[in-house]
Amino acid sequence: MVYYRLCRFFLFRDKRGNNERELFAKAERNKTIDITIEEGQDYLNRCVLVCRSTDILVVLDKTIIGDMFSVASLLLKNFVDLLIVDPSYNLDKDFRGSKHKKTSDNIYEQYTDSWINTIQPLLKNNATIYVCCDWQSSALIGRVLSYNVAERKGRGALNNWKNGMEDIWFATNSKVYAFNIDNVKTRRKVIAPYKVEGKPKDWEETKDGNFRNTYPSNFWDDISIPYWWMPENTERPTQKPKKLLAKLILASSNKGDVVLDPFLGAGTTFVTAKKITTALCRD
Ligand SMILES: C[S@@+](CC[C@H](N)C(=O)[O-])C[C@H]1O[C@@H](n2cnc3c(N)ncnc32)[C@H](O)[C@@H]1O
Repeated sequence: MVYYRLCRFFLFRDKRGNNERELFAKAERNKTIDITIEEGQDYLNRCVLVCRSTDILVVLDKTIIGDMFSVASLLLKNFVDLLIVDPSYNLDKDFRGSKHKKTSDNIYEQYTDSWINTIQPLLKNNATIYVCCDWQSSALIGRVLSYNVAERKGRGALNNWKNGMEDIWFATNSKVYAFNIDNVKTRRKVIAPYKVEGKPKDWEETKDGNFRNTYPSNFWDDISIPYWWMPENTERPTQKPKKLLAKLILASSNKGDVVLDPFLGAGTTFVTAKKITTALCRD
């Protein structure tokens, strides 16, 4: 797996050099991950900088620190099987003083075109591409990609219906692509327990009830954004849930494939891919 991210760790020191963790004690049930400067250094030591054309072995299983627009041209061509992209959305955002200003649709479309064109040469001919977006930019992003699936999300809103959905565009470079539906079937309680010759037709009897593994639709209502009481939560407000990334990776890559996330954020794609790889190696 190859990932790159801007060099931003959620580490803060006050003027006297104390770690923020010591300054603000968390509520007991708050599981948000935070790390000290020293722990952060450990993670940084495992990252790589890419300053000139680089062999794939240098970046596989690594986090690349840098601006993806500069780094992409230094990487090998045609090596990525699965591209997962969660770009900054076209919204006004202020995350600890780092401001993102909403631009016009035109400018955001140009930005979208530019990152797609930058990444495209890295993709294998049969690569799969997922692009996360909010509903406002979805149509715009869809102009350059082909199919879409949906996931659930639920930040609150006081004077409107709570936004409970985001789009994910699903596109492929060719008509031949990896899609492992059996890896992502949904387990559901059986309502009509049909039997053939006295045996369950396509479901299982378990001590907890009767269940069937069904083909998943493109509406995912079993995924929640990370909340502060979840152990996977970080300080990053745009963090995607690991379960979402697991679905994308399990459905759209095979063992040994290369997954690229050019806008890594808190590192969810990396962490999830690593966990899946570790689990596969154990089996
Ligand atoms: C929406 S967030 C991604 C969140 C991520 N999926 C997660 O689960 O945490 C977009 C990230 O891309 C980073 N980013 C924006 N432009 C970038 C660039 N040119 N190169 C590398 N990273 C970039 C931003 O700093 C931000 O961390």
